[in-house]
Amino acid sequence: MKVKNICCIGAGYVGGPTMAVIAQKCPEINVTVVDINEKRIAAWNDENVENIPIYEPGLSAVVAEARDRNLFFSTDVDAAIDKADMIFISVNTPTKTYGIGKGMAADLKYIELCARQIARVAKDDKIVIEKSTLPVRTAEALKSILDNTGNGVKFQILSNPEFLAEGTAVEDLLDPDRVLIGGDIDTTEGMDAVQALVDVYAHWVPKDQILTTNVWSSELSKLTANAFLAQRVSSINSLSELCEKTGADVNEVSRAIGMDSRIGSKFLKSSVGFGGSCFQKDILNLVYIAKSFGLNEVADYWEQVIIMNDHQKKRFAENIVKTLFNTVSGKKIAFLGWAFKKDTNDTRESAAIYVADYLLNEQAEIVIYDPKVTEEQIYADLDYLGTRSEEKNRKLVKVVDTPVNATEGAHAVAVLTEWDEFKELDWNEIYKKMLKPAFLFDGRKILDRKSKEAIGFDFYAIGS
Ligand code: UDX
Ligand code: UDX
Repeated sequence: MKVKNICCIGAGYVGGPTMAVIAQKCPEINVTVVDINEKRIAAWNDENVENIPIYEPGLSAVVAEARDRNLFFSTDVDAAIDKADMIFISVNTPTKTYGIGKGMAADLKYIELCARQIARVAKDDKIVIEKSTLPVRTAEALKSILDNTGNGVKFQILSNPEFLAEGTAVEDLLDPDRVLIGGDIDTTEGMDAVQALVDVYAHWVPKDQILTTNVWSSELSKLTANAFLAQRVSSINSLSELCEKTGADVNEVSRAIGMDSRIGSKFLKSSVGFGGSCFQKDILNLVYIAKSFGLNEVADYWEQVIIMNDHQKKRFAENIVKTLFNTVSGKKIAFLGWAFKKDTNDTRESAAIYVADYLLNEQAEIVIYDPKVTEEQIYADLDYLGTRSEEKNRKLVKVVDTPVNATEGAHAVAVLTEWDEFKELDWNEIYKKMLKPAFLFDGRKILDRKSKEAIGFDFYAIGS
């Protein structure tokens, strides 16, 4: 089977970049990305391609090349479903905030709505692909909805989890370590569907890097990959606290162990804690699944990764208060960075949010500079916590557009995101305009200790 029309439901951080790259690499396939959020679709269609709603290095160029050629963004979900041979579901699956599994299980409400909509609209056979990260065996639920509410057409369900990391999405999509496709590989129809998707990726990914498995292995592999990555960060972060006590330097430890080829050097950077939309959600998901099978030791083992991460964020905030003579009330604290990592405007689960919340509870005033995150987003993140009134958030938190404006007259500066531009800052200049003694808390280990001490900062970095 040759795919001619692809539809993707969800024009977010995953759906948008993934479809842009598929369209760029497969000019003979029409790719339509749909979303219920009109504002988001309008931004994807903005005449000025720099205004697309997601910031990713290299993405605007890919969109510029393919948009209106074979890449389209639309709010007409029904029309796109109707036309497509292959439908990707890439809607968000946040952690449930209500009912059974609250705070742990994934909320599959949007996935189910998509399935029902596909079933209602589809008039010919379709391949439906889970792109969203989902609990193991979600495909079964999808299949049941599609088969029981559809118009008698046939659906094949595939799992094709996305491994791109934000900030390097385009690079990761163009040159992935592997592409994983799970399907009903025991039947001919299932194999045909798998092959159709393999053929799409084979436009640019070497065949031996395209793995095919059964659906459940594919679903579980995605959760496992994120859990393992997050575990490495929590492991090194746990050692960062011990380094601070013993005089070891976590960067040196990290380098020394990373050169062991069995361990490897990646994902060993100590930080104020991991963030992003996936790690916490996926581990909670794994914990919830384990618990639901009565596997309490398995659940506890993985939950500890989250506990360590929460501890690291809290510890960083506590250290600021303690160092500033046990009070930050009425003190101005500058935040450099708000995004959960560099090169993205995504702030979901960013450590900065939790550090800010802690300091605001201590009545600090916070002034924030981030090169890509909007003021509107920062207030939305704080309001979402529900810790204090919206008025209070706006009174205590200011958002500015240069690092100097953030740090001027501040008691302390905290680096929360590792943006490259922070390494290039004139720290001498910043120091001069701060209140003395001036404190620098480096939550991302981006600064060289010696030069900061030479300038005069009271310098505190995670793990040193
Ligand atoms: C993705 C995955 O889907 C998630 O499971 C994974 O764990 C992280 O990455 P992401 O692309 O980052 O999510 O989410 P988001 O940027 O929120 O995009 C989802 C889009 O789906 C939103 O634009 C939303 O408006 C849209 N949506 C949601 C629909 O179009 N229909 C719905 O019913 C629900
Ligand atoms: C992650 C996975 O890497 C990706 O494969 C999956 O598809 C989605 O989830 P993402 O959340 O975009 O991607 O970013 P990632 O680069 O994994 O970083 C997650 C968090 O861990 C960030 O807050 C980052 O700053 C932090 N981190 C990462 C560290 O603190 N130290 C490290 O060494 C690496």
